[in-house]
Amino acid sequence: MNALSLLSRLPEAAQTPLGAEVYFGLTKIHKTLSPWLFYDDEGSRLFERITELDEYYPTRTERDIFAEYGDDILEAAAGDFRLQMIELGAGTATKTGLLLEAAVRRQGSVLYEPMDVSSTALEEATIRIEERLPQVTVLPRVADYTDGLSASAQEEGHRRLVLYIGSSMGNFEPDDRLQLLKDIRRQLSEGDTLLLGVDLVKPESVLIPAYDDSSGITAEFNLNVLRRINRELGANFNLDCFVHRAVWNRAESRIEMHLESTVAQQVSIPGLEIEVRFRDGETIHTENSYKFTPTGVLDLLAKSGFHSEKRWYDERKWFGVFLAVVP
Ligand code: AVJ
Repeated sequence: MNALSLLSRLPEAAQTPLGAEVYFGLTKIHKTLSPWLFYDDEGSRLFERITELDEYYPTRTERDIFAEYGDDILEAAAGDFRLQMIELGAGTATKTGLLLEAAVRRQGSVLYEPMDVSSTALEEATIRIEERLPQVTVLPRVADYTDGLSASAQEEGHRRLVLYIGSSMGNFEPDDRLQLLKDIRRQLSEGDTLLLGVDLVKPESVLIPAYDDSSGITAEFNLNVLRRINRELGANFNLDCFVHRAVWNRAESRIEMHLESTVAQQVSIPGLEIEVRFRDGETIHTENSYKFTPTGVLDLLAKSGFHSEKRWYDERKWFGVFLAVVP
């Protein structure tokens, strides 16, 4: 029997992206669920609330870097050329405004193409930017980074500045992130640039509260994935029988989020025609958030065919913004 006929024997719901992820993730020895499952409407709202928490430093720190060095960043990316800007995984584009303002100061107007898989987030981004910055032409596109860049508009005589900020890359495994950067590189031309925002390695005493905040918003965000599976696949996860865990895995240089079962229990997922058993204390691994070192980033950029141009940090060196150019 080949893989395709095996797949067609699965319940129909297991053949949707969400169904397949849950089906295969929860039938493994070490249970996993992929972080993209967090972002239903409620999850996206909870993430926005996370970015406003005192303990969650990444968003605020990157925004401070853009506020302080925005003009410098645009100067380094543009040189003698005019720029058009593309943002991968734009979400609601809250921090991008600072860079767009810098582009408007520099060249009067700019074409901005936010790309995301969520159309709701893109609509919000478009409205937000158009209201605030009439000199910016927004061309939102629902697309994936793997091929979306090729389809982007090419303005005559313009160089492209691709934004991949917010440490979104932190969710990818080492091999996948290298492939991702190679994919981006392949779709760009000489002189085009990539601006990469990454969260840096720092003391555990700062990292843990950022992923296990005192108001419990991150816990809600993590548990929301179970609520989503209950709603979309008819499952009966009891959210009172799982707790949020955040751990720093120093060897792998990543924060891991888990949902830990507080009892021995069995959960049924009718949409997938499966029953999932949990031991007391067993976890579902729901997210890796990798933290980088500056040398690690430079190495990654070189391996994927970019030339590192310049980089900016906040004064505590908690977050880094790296500009790389296609040679
Ligand atoms: C959106 C992947 C950058 O890893 O910090 C926030 C997601 N998870 N709190 C991160 C997240 C828990 C976030 N990224």
